[in-house]
Amino acid sequence: MTTPTSQPHDATSTVDATPWAGPVLGIETSCDETAVGIVEGGRVLAMRFSTQVPLHQRFGGVVPEVASRNHLLSVLPTLEAALADAGLTMADISGLAVTDRPGLLGALLVGVQTAATLAWRNELPLVGVHHIHAHCWAAMLLPADERPSLPALALAVSGGHSSILRVDGPDAFETLGETLDDAAGEAFDKVGKLLGLPYPAGPHIDRLARDGDPTRWPLPRGMRGRDDLALSFSGLKTAARQQIEALRVELDLGPDDPLPDRELADICACLQDAIVAQLVSIAVRAVERTGLRHVVLAGGVAANSHLRATLADALAKVGARAFAVPPRLCTDNGAMVAALGASLLASGHRADPLRMDAAPTARPPMRSLQKAP
Ligand code: KG4
Ligand code: ZN
Repeated sequence: MTTPTSQPHDATSTVDATPWAGPVLGIETSCDETAVGIVEGGRVLAMRFSTQVPLHQRFGGVVPEVASRNHLLSVLPTLEAALADAGLTMADISGLAVTDRPGLLGALLVGVQTAATLAWRNELPLVGVHHIHAHCWAAMLLPADERPSLPALALAVSGGHSSILRVDGPDAFETLGETLDDAAGEAFDKVGKLLGLPYPAGPHIDRLARDGDPTRWPLPRGMRGRDDLALSFSGLKTAARQQIEALRVELDLGPDDPLPDRELADICACLQDAIVAQLVSIAVRAVERTGLRHVVLAGGVAANSHLRATLADALAKVGARAFAVPPRLCTDNGAMVAALGASLLASGHRADPLRMDAAPTARPPMRSLQKAP
């Protein structure tokens, strides 16, 4: 066994281009998805999930205590199923990776304790990964000739985070801008709840918006008077809520009555268009400020069909290129954790299984990019 050294993996270090030999198993339990993935040489060998979405649906959002308890019940069966899918046993695994930050503390701890115990028991090297960085690194699971080259930008948009980052390597991520309030996914989910859509509402809004008119009601598309890379979705959420309330009065509907199909599709299209417009304009601005031309699109919201198409077009116009993570790897999964873990292990990072801990709110350092005078 390699002697474990406790190294913070967000410290910049030289990236060893040598890929990690053998399958790496990744565990993800930061929110409401118990997920295990096995990756080898940039290829996904297995991906298993035990989703808790139906459990949280009746509360309209994730309940942390319910999440931790269910991770505890599902993590080992999910792991065994992933190994069986790949036709492997723990003896074939050459490294372990686990999301250790940020996320719900109790939920993270289940993954961390599981991975640490497996690493100690099987004498395997172990590394902790940052959830958002893992989302971005999923772009390295694209076919070899379709991967971004580094340094690149990454637009990471999920239910809990929305940020634009500069990526220089598996251990070198810098946040250039992030949301000041809600995440993009949260805006989809919270407005979706007002519309009576099931949690998470993002995929439903994506589908309903296809038949809607995105110009029917103008909704805010970002913050006026700012020229940095910060994002904000709370004003949009409030404007959408007011629009829905006004419609209910106009159509003489009670607070729980469903909106007619036309109005529902139009609200979804307007909301989606406003969220996408803001994300795309920040990505274009980041390209202009940094001169970087490869932009990864990652995180659950990156599965949005309108965002994928609009970002690709807008970046092409400024001579840049979008690298959207494949939809099945956009939402939380274990393969993205294994992929980043493999690269971190190859770069020499190790966590001590006897001392590893979870960090619920780890934040990378942030630098604000002002417009050049
Ligand atoms: O990355 P993720 O699986 O979990 C977090 O780390 O938060 O992201 C989940 C978020 C939810 O807010 C969900 O509504 C959103 O991703 N989402 C979508 C789509 N698919 C998932 N939002 C818009 N369009 C989609 N197709
Ligand atoms: Zn996520």
